[in-house]
Amino acid sequence: MLELRHLSKQWDHRPLLANVNLSVASGETVALLGASGSGKSTLLKIVAGLEAPEAGSVWFDGVDITTLPPEQRGFALMFQDFALFPHLNVQDNVAFGLVEQGAGRTQARINAREMLQRFGLGDHARARVWTLSGGEQQRVALARALITRPRALLLDEPFSALDAALREQLRTEFRDRIRAAGMTAILVTHDEQEARAMAQHGWGLVNGQLRRLW
Ligand SMILES: Nc1ncnc2c1ncn2[C@@H]1O[C@H](COP(=O)(O)OP(=O)(O)O)[C@@H](O)[C@H]1O
Ligand SMILES: [Mg+2]
Repeated sequence: MLELRHLSKQWDHRPLLANVNLSVASGETVALLGASGSGKSTLLKIVAGLEAPEAGSVWFDGVDITTLPPEQRGFALMFQDFALFPHLNVQDNVAFGLVEQGAGRTQARINAREMLQRFGLGDHARARVWTLSGGEQQRVALARALITRPRALLLDEPFSALDAALREQLRTEFRDRIRAAGMTAILVTHDEQEARAMAQHGWGLVNGQLRRLW
């Protein structure tokens, strides 16, 4: 269970988060909706450990992780711009996290290829990432995030760089893969249809307050 307790954060004297509480049960996807500039990414960065809250705490499975550095939280992040490594081929992008975790390079590559196969990207294992389409690159990014078996997946507008038809296709595919992995996830988006298709619960962030939408 991922828990945000009484989180507060200001920007330029404006409250972005004002005493925010949120619980995400294990294996559940929760969506966070809100207008541009409402503080959605700020909330996600606090969960990731990339920003510190002014007040409040972040908990995972009953442990206060508010001051834990990002790399020790065991969370995977996925942002709208694909953020794949342009100098690595597809399989080495996916293998990267495993090597970071201490796996040998050969074993990491084998696991990465297996994952790419499951994602329908087996033929692209040795391709440069920039030769793939936008949708394929986002699939690679998800494969790279899931292969390390993170404790939670944090998605910040993962499809906003893609066209509408592809967004619709990827939202069900991603939902199914995230559920199949039993992953706990927070999805930040400004697209309510996308959020409803992917998340068991949705919250709206307005004036620093979270309101339950479903
Ligand atoms: N480090 C920062 N630099 C510049 N602006 C920031 C920073 N952190 C927060 N902000 C401001 O805080 C507000 C909320 O940002 P953000 O959390 O990115 O909103 P959202 O993701 O909902 O669009 C924006 O107005 C943004 O300009
Ligand atoms: Mg944002």
